Amino acid sequence: MSTTVIDGIGLLVTNDPTLGEGPLGLVRSASLVIDGSTLVSVGPAGQVADERIDVEGRCVIPGFVDSHSHLVFAGDRSEEFAARMAGTPYEAGGILDTVRATAGATDDELRRVVAARRAEATRAGITTIEIKSGYGLTPAAEARSLRLARELTADTTFLGAHVVSEAYADRPDDYVALVCGEMLSAAAPHARFVDVFCETGAFDRDQSREVLRAGMAAGLLPKIHANQLGPGPGVALAVELGCVSADHCTHLSPTDVEALAGSGTVATLLPAADFSTRQPYADGRRLLDAGATVAIATNCNPGSSNTTSMSFCLALAVREMGMTADEALQAATIGGAAALQRADVGRLTVGSPADIVVLDAPSHLHLIYRPGVPLIHATYIAGERR
Ligand code: NIG
Repeated sequence: MSTTVIDGIGLLVTNDPTLGEGPLGLVRSASLVIDGSTLVSVGPAGQVADERIDVEGRCVIPGFVDSHSHLVFAGDRSEEFAARMAGTPYEAGGILDTVRATAGATDDELRRVVAARRAEATRAGITTIEIKSGYGLTPAAEARSLRLARELTADTTFLGAHVVSEAYADRPDDYVALVCGEMLSAAAPHARFVDVFCETGAFDRDQSREVLRAGMAAGLLPKIHANQLGPGPGVALAVELGCVSADHCTHLSPTDVEALAGSGTVATLLPAADFSTRQPYADGRRLLDAGATVAIATNCNPGSSNTTSMSFCLALAVREMGMTADEALQAATIGGAAALQRADVGRLTVGSPADIVVLDAPSHLHLIYRPGVPLIHATYIAGERR
């Protein structure tokens, strides 16, 4: 296998404080050597390898780790979005429109649109992605969504408990039993995580606990959609069950913040969802100051956050959530890795996969300083330019 050096890096973000300045481990005038899919050397500019790529002074960062997405869907809810911008509130029920559209798509149609979204995310600098089911809501349809997601990532999440399906509208407890029984059995072989939307209009605390416990008994790691549309029991439940992450965290009480800070549960913030649902923004500053681990993710989905732009999410996190640019970048890289229990991604150190993003900018600060400008020059996943 031949080696390649990415040379002429003006500013390198490693996320390893032992390699450079500050928590981001910044190295000026650097180069990276890749052997196959792996990073084998992080050093000063001018390292030698079989092949040389000159990035001409650009900034290089670890690829983004998007720990929350719902890419498997068909259809479009732009009219719902437009109505929301005109004042209609966001409600969990819109999910069922997407369930109907997804049911009408063949496997190949669905595979095509999901792959196109994954490609769009790659162009946005996302090198690791988690993908949820949740627009199937029957055992076969949830298993199909996860099978298709698995073609693109190992980090798949079973979200049969997204909302109660139309067929079970009058029997929510029977739906929970279905999720915990036949649906889980069909989904678990294709999933790494189990998730539940714990919210008014979706599932309450006891139902959510039942779903997560069943998933954990089947060997899945628990995650939860918590405190998105209002205060609620989601975060407390996340900490009680030792969830890997509590996602959204838009409406937190001081007790919730303390509980997250004292736990191993990552607080995953989804700024584009707060933007798109006209919710207040989650208080990233308060969580960080309390000592919680924070991740930022796109939450790409057709209802509450139809974007793959992590740069947009970073800009919102800095402008609206009180995070510094450095904190936001960390949250979208090593924070995302923590939310997926992946120690191997989110940093550029010897031995890590060569998941590398070259920015068309001299520093990572430009991701926030130049909002809306496409600054991703190149994305390498496992050493391959995509
Ligand atoms: O994370 N909150 C639940 N699920 C998605 C929204 C899904 C939809 O509206 O289609 C979210 O925001």
